[in-house]
Amino acid sequence: MLRNSTTTYGGVTKTFHWLTALLVVTLIPLGIYANGLPYETGEQLARKAWMFSLHKTLGVTVFFVALARIGWALSQPKPGLLNSERKLESFLAETVHWLLYASLVLVPLSGWIHHAATTGFAPIWWPFGQSLPLVPKDDDVAHTFAALHIVFERVLAASILLHIAGALKHHVFDKDKTLRRMLPGHTDPGPLPAKRHSALPLLGAGAGYVVALAIGAAIGLFSHAESTTSPVPTLAEVETGWQVEQGTLALTVRQLGSDVQGSFENWTAAINFKETADAEGRHGNVEVQIAIASLTLGSVTAQAMGADFFHTQAHPTAVFAADILTDAEGGYFAEGTLDLKGSTQPIILPFTLQIDDDTATMTGQTRLNRTAYRIGEAYPDETSLGFDVVIDVSLTAIRQTGS
Ligand code: HEM
Ligand code: HEM
Repeated sequence: MLRNSTTTYGGVTKTFHWLTALLVVTLIPLGIYANGLPYETGEQLARKAWMFSLHKTLGVTVFFVALARIGWALSQPKPGLLNSERKLESFLAETVHWLLYASLVLVPLSGWIHHAATTGFAPIWWPFGQSLPLVPKDDDVAHTFAALHIVFERVLAASILLHIAGALKHHVFDKDKTLRRMLPGHTDPGPLPAKRHSALPLLGAGAGYVVALAIGAAIGLFSHAESTTSPVPTLAEVETGWQVEQGTLALTVRQLGSDVQGSFENWTAAINFKETADAEGRHGNVEVQIAIASLTLGSVTAQAMGADFFHTQAHPTAVFAADILTDAEGGYFAEGTLDLKGSTQPIILPFTLQIDDDTATMTGQTRLNRTAYRIGEAYPDETSLGFDVVIDVSLTAIRQTGS
């Protein structure tokens, strides 16, 4: 009763069938609903993220249930179709079965790869991490797999409609046991016509995917418009005692419980620094200009430029100006102000410094509170976006003559 026979489906196959059916029929509207939800405010974003986490968690469940189901189907005899003498109908039914089996793997897998290539969005509710081996955090990969997820999910939805229509046709018009054979309880349709093995339905399913992908490409689903909305201003060269040879200016924020890292591509530093301090204990000063629009921040780069966040159109650059001092233990720190999005706030950046001849290497870290700069005011608590922004600076600079 648990195993299939050549004429009936066993209990395990039926359980797998109805479990996946239930999950998939829930996931499609859930995906469309979650995708359509707005995220203008913190509450809306938290709700959208919750729906997506549910979608992803159920979706990944489908993936593993589908693998188990396919493994089980391969170990079982496959009951023949009831009306296999009707060639076109059998071809259609089997083509749709292939599409359904393939969809059960392709739809969740494409969604999962899209998720793994993205940073800082709704997490899968499980303890096994949010990344996938071999899947880079990359915007293009994320976009391509998002498009594939949509194409595959549409093929799945169309296949389900055809599949249900077929099952109902058998039940209502043919009045045969096709549907009853898949329902709980023992239904044996008796001897069946001899089974014909044909590769045509498999080819039919392959052709179905080719057509679906071609339609997806034709309507521009795969074209990836550059999402950067703000032009990056060119920063003027600065007079500096120490010329920065290489460096990174990075930030980390906590979005929906996971860290999102980004960095600024364009910034300049005017550094005046002497190993010996002056009478007031100053070793010099530093002024850093940052082109905010040169920030890349995972998959939320474009949002970060918007009015609610950095508002780069109105505030294209930030300026950090500070004196370089040492504390009682001789540790260096830069104390001054950060002018960002129209607010100037005090800030201290402790850093380590190593000078070999004329090459200086420094690394430092500081934190700022985004609310002090009116960043993300629509997210007034930390559920969607943490208050703390961690700034990491590291650079190597060469002493210019005269410094
Ligand atoms: C919700 C309404 C559904 C109904 C009424 C339904 C009904 C049926 C019936 C009656 C069969 C047996 C066909 C036969 O014996 O020839 C069947 C098989 C099958 N169904 Fe469904 N189904 C539904 C949903 C789904 C969904 C959502 C999926 C997958 C995403 C699915 C995947 C399959 C597959 C792959 C088979 C072939 C099983 C095999 O022979 O290996 N079904 N379904
Ligand atoms: C059988 C399983 C799944 C089904 C049936 C399904 C179905 C859908 C549907 C119908 C949409 C809406 C697309 C639209 O608005 O046109 C969607 C979107 C989405 N799904 Fe799934 N999904 C599944 C599994 C997954 C999994 C496992 C993940 C990630 C781990 C995932 C992540 C997403 C994401 C991120 C979107 C939004 C796509 C976008 O940004 O355009 N899905 N899914």
